[in-house]
Amino acid sequence: MLDVAAASVCRRCALHETRQRVVIGAGPLDARLLVVGEAPGRREDEGGEPFIGRSGQLLTRLIAEELGLGREEYYITNVVKCRPPNNRPPSQPEREACRPWLEEQLRSQNPAVILCAGATAARAVLGSSSPVGTLHGQIFTVFGASALATYHPAAALRGGSNVERVMRADLVLVKELLGR
Ligand code: URA
Repeated sequence: MLDVAAASVCRRCALHETRQRVVIGAGPLDARLLVVGEAPGRREDEGGEPFIGRSGQLLTRLIAEELGLGREEYYITNVVKCRPPNNRPPSQPEREACRPWLEEQLRSQNPAVILCAGATAARAVLGSSSPVGTLHGQIFTVFGASALATYHPAAALRGGSNVERVMRADLVLVKELLGR
């Protein structure tokens, strides 16, 4: 299991200098679905929980509508556990510094399905730098779990109903993989 006490005081990269909180993840550790995003934003940095801002609210709603799952029924985390200043994408050294925490989560929590929200998560979890538009719909195996990518909800907020439609279709695939 991830050592929460150690992760909460992590200083492996410079993000520890500007963060308020280390956002480790939320949800049951034995959940069958594990969702991975990019990095905490301002709301998450303040609240200590992933995906509670605007894009998080959209993702939470899409998962509830397509999978019938509430936040308390899946685990949700990010590639990088501390907020990058001004919400810039996390750099490669930051992603690498944080990687052991994510790997420990994926390995020890043993989910059935891992959903990567956005290209940063897809790169970290699936090991592919292809765009989400190419990757989505494909099913990978990662630490014994079925793993797949969809768009980051921020892309749906920017890109409108087409992006949201693709995300909903990807969530239907997640539903099938979960046998729901
Ligand atoms: N975007 C992310 O990728 N993760 C969060 O926790 C919030 C916004």
